[in-house]
Amino acid sequence: MKVLVITGSPHKNGTSAHLAEQFIKGAKEKGYEVIRFDAAEKQVHPCIACERCHNTDKGCVFKDAMEELNPELLSADVIAFVSPIYYYTISAQIKAVIDRFYANDAALHNNKKAVLLLTMADDTDESALGALQTFKGICNFLEWKNAGTVIGLDCATVEDLQKTDYLNKAYELGKSL
Ligand SMILES: Cc1cc2nc3c(=O)[nH]c(=O)nc-3n(C[C@H](O)[C@H](O)[C@H](O)COP(=O)(O)O)c2cc1C
Repeated sequence: MKVLVITGSPHKNGTSAHLAEQFIKGAKEKGYEVIRFDAAEKQVHPCIACERCHNTDKGCVFKDAMEELNPELLSADVIAFVSPIYYYTISAQIKAVIDRFYANDAALHNNKKAVLLLTMADDTDESALGALQTFKGICNFLEWKNAGTVIGLDCATVEDLQKTDYLNKAYELGKSL
């Protein structure tokens, strides 16, 4: 099984990166192949809705890091989205990647599983609702199975995160795929 992990934070050692690492550890222990794409480290132009990908056979107008990601995206069995909450939803870095799925909408309707891992400073689920709704919408639209979520509340810093059970939950989710 191939697992594609797409992260959305510019913090290489931040809270969501720690969740991603534990998730990957669990998945690798089960023998799954893991590919990681750190969106904040890559050049991914936001979709400009030119429709060239839908109206012609020329594909996306932008030749950027999505060319590296697309083959992995199409062949992965599991897509893991890992993001900090920024203003009540996922980060712009990961959203830019998701919007570029548009070029492969038809091919992506293909029986994948998806998981969502979030970290945030607030201690209420309500602050994650935007991200959760986006995730559920993507799963419904692309007919992917929601294979689980870890919503890391009250995790402004790595020190906060380490006092919680979320790292273990991410690890267990990685093993449970
Ligand atoms: C631009 C920005 C917006 C944020 N918005 C929220 C928010 O709406 N709710 C929240 O609980 N935390 C918010 N945070 C805090 C981060 O979600 C939190 O610090 C998280 O642990 C950062 O994850 P990272 O270390 O992986 O980047 C925000 C942080 C930044 C930089």
